[in-house]
Amino acid sequence: MKSFYITTPIYYVNGKPHIGHSYTSVLADMLTRYHALEGDEVFFLTGTDEHGDKIARSAEKEGTDPQTLADRYAKEFKVLWDMLDVKYSEFIRTTDESHKQVVQRVLQKIYDKGDIYFGEYGGYYCCGCERFYAENELEDGICPQHKTKPEYVKEKNYFFKMSRYLPWLKEYITEHPDFIQPSHYRNEVLALLQQETLEDLCISRPKSRLTWGIELPFDTDYVCYVWFDALLNYISGIGYPDSPCFDTFWPHAEHIIAKDILKPHAIFWPCMLASAEIPLFKKLYVHGYWLSKDTKLSKSLGNAIDPALLINQYGVDAIRYFLLRDMSFGSDANFSLSSLASRITAELANDIGNLFSRTLAMIAKYCDSKVPQPGQYTQHDECIQQTILEHIAMYKQHCRQVAPAKALENLVAIASCANKYIDANAPWTLYKEKQEERLATVLYLVLEALRKLAIALLPVVPSTAKTMLALLGITSPLGITLQEEERIWGKLPVGTVLAPSANLFPREQWEKPMDLIEVATPKEEKTYISFEQFSLVDMRVGTVISATKVENARSLLLLHVDVGEDNPRTILSGIAEKYTPTDMVGKRVIVVVNLQPKKIRGIESHGMILTVGEGNDIYLLEPSDVCMNGSRIV
Ligand code: MSP
Repeated sequence: MKSFYITTPIYYVNGKPHIGHSYTSVLADMLTRYHALEGDEVFFLTGTDEHGDKIARSAEKEGTDPQTLADRYAKEFKVLWDMLDVKYSEFIRTTDESHKQVVQRVLQKIYDKGDIYFGEYGGYYCCGCERFYAENELEDGICPQHKTKPEYVKEKNYFFKMSRYLPWLKEYITEHPDFIQPSHYRNEVLALLQQETLEDLCISRPKSRLTWGIELPFDTDYVCYVWFDALLNYISGIGYPDSPCFDTFWPHAEHIIAKDILKPHAIFWPCMLASAEIPLFKKLYVHGYWLSKDTKLSKSLGNAIDPALLINQYGVDAIRYFLLRDMSFGSDANFSLSSLASRITAELANDIGNLFSRTLAMIAKYCDSKVPQPGQYTQHDECIQQTILEHIAMYKQHCRQVAPAKALENLVAIASCANKYIDANAPWTLYKEKQEERLATVLYLVLEALRKLAIALLPVVPSTAKTMLALLGITSPLGITLQEEERIWGKLPVGTVLAPSANLFPREQWEKPMDLIEVATPKEEKTYISFEQFSLVDMRVGTVISATKVENARSLLLLHVDVGEDNPRTILSGIAEKYTPTDMVGKRVIVVVNLQPKKIRGIESHGMILTVGEGNDIYLLEPSDVCMNGSRIV
C-alpha cells in the first residue's frame, strides 16, 4: 500500500477564511479523496497559524487577547471546512502543547549543533508578512504584498545559519526538477538562490516587543519567529519525532501553497530540515492567486468573498467544482459570479447533469428501469469505449500530478463524448424500430461511462457523486475504487434496477438572483440595517485634548477627547502606528459616544474614533472646522 501525505498552509487567525483559502483546502481534500480511491493510505493535515505580531496586533485592535482571537477564527476555519466537505485527518493549531514541544525540541537541536547565533540586525519589517525585507525587495519603499510601508527595526536577535545550507539547496533543486512545481516557481526559487543576497534567518523576537510566541528553550527573553514555528507544523502534526504516523507519512509529504509564501517553503523550510537532520519533503506545489478584478483576494485588502454565502446560493459541490476547474494550477484566476454561473451551468448542469437525467429517463422508458444486457460492440462502440478509458487514464495522471483543472477537463470530455454518442445512435429511433439488442448495447455503453464518471467525480463533488452512484444502483461505498478503471470495462451489473430520473444540479438554485454578494465590495456582503438601527449610533464631533502612547501596545494611543460634555472622554484608539501623540493633540475627530465601554490593557475606553484603513495605513475621519464639539452626526 502506498502512502500519501498532503498539507495546506496553516492559515492565520486574524480574519475569516475566504475563497483563496478555500481553494487550497478543497484541492488538498480532492487529492486526498483521489488517493484514497486509488487504495493509498492517506493523511491530510491542515490547521491554523496562531502566534506572532500579526495576531497579537489584531487581537489588540479587537480589544481581546490573542488566544481568544485564535480560538474564534480557528473555529471559523473548521466550520467552513465542514461546509465545504473538506475532510482533514488532523487540524493542527500552533498553540497546541504538542506542537510547542516539537518547536522547542528542534530549536534546541539546531542550537546545540551550532546553527543558531546571537547578533544584531536592522531591516524593514512588514507586519502583514511577518518578515524583514531588504531595501531592494521593496517597491518604492512599500511592501509588494501588502502595499504598506514597513517600519525599520533594529534589535538584537537569534539567527539561524541558513546560508550554510543554501549551496546544498541550490544543487538539490537543480538536480530534482520536479521538487517545486510548476516549473516557473522552481525557476523563481533558483533565481533567488542565484542572487546570493540571501542572509541568515532571524528566528527570534525579543519579549520586550512581542510575547505572543513560543519561548526559545535557550533564552527565556525571546520568543520564536512565527514562520520558524509555523513551518514545523508539517512534522509536529504527524507526531514527530517518534510516532509511527511520522515514519509512515513524512517520506511522502507534499505541500500545497500559493505563491505568496514560496520563499519560506522553498528556502527556509528545506534548510531548517537539513539543519535538524530531518529528510526533505517530497514535493512543493505552488498555485496562483484568486483575483477579483485583477487584485488578489485577501482579508487585508478588504475584497475577500465569504464562501458561506456562495455555498448557500450555489451548493457546496458547485463551488468545489468551480474552484478546481476554473483555476489553471500555477496561474492566477479571476473570480466572478458570472464565470461561476457559466461554468457550472455549462459543465455541471448541461454536460454532466443532463447526461444523467436523459440516460436514466431512457432506461426507465425503454428498459423497464433495469441495466440492459449489451450485445456485440461495433467498431465505433469500441472506439468510444477506448476514448473513455483514455480520459480516465489522463484524469488519473493529472490528479497525481496536481493538475485539477486538466483532470476535470477529462471528465467533462467523457460527458460530452457520451452525449454525442447518444445523439449519433438515437436510442429513441432504435426503440421505435424495435432494434432491441442495439438499443441495449448503446445504453449499456453510456451507463458504464456514467459509472466511471461518477466514481471519478467522488473526490471533486463527493455528495453529488454519491447520489450519482446511488442512481446507478451502487449504494455502498465498500469496494468503490478507481484502481484499474482506466483498463476495465463493464463492471455495472446487468439487471440492476436504476432510478427513473435525476435532477443533480437544479438550475433554479443558481439562476435565482444573487443580490447578496457583489465581488470586491465587501460592505455589500453584509445585510442591511434599518434607519432606526442606524439612528441608535450616537456620533459626535470632538477635539483631542491630550494623547499618550499605551505601554507595550504598539498600536494604541490613549486620548482625552472633548465631545462637548462636562469632562473629556478617555478613549483608546488603535492608530499609534500612523499618528504620534503630538500629531493628535488638537485634531478634530468623530467619536461614537454610545459604544459600550470596554477595558483594554487595564484602561476603560469610552468611545471609538472613526478611521479608515488599518496598521500604518490608517486615516482619521476629520469633521469640518465649522462643526462644534458635541455636534451630532446624522
Ligand atoms: N500562516 C501562513 C502560512 C504558514 S504555513 C507554514 C499564511 N497564512 S494565510 O492565512 O495568509 O494563508 C495563505 C494561504 O492561503 C496561501 O498560500 C493560499 O494557500 C491561500 N490563499 C490566501 N489568499 C489567496 C488567494 N487570493 N488566492 C489563492 N490562494 C490564497 O500565509
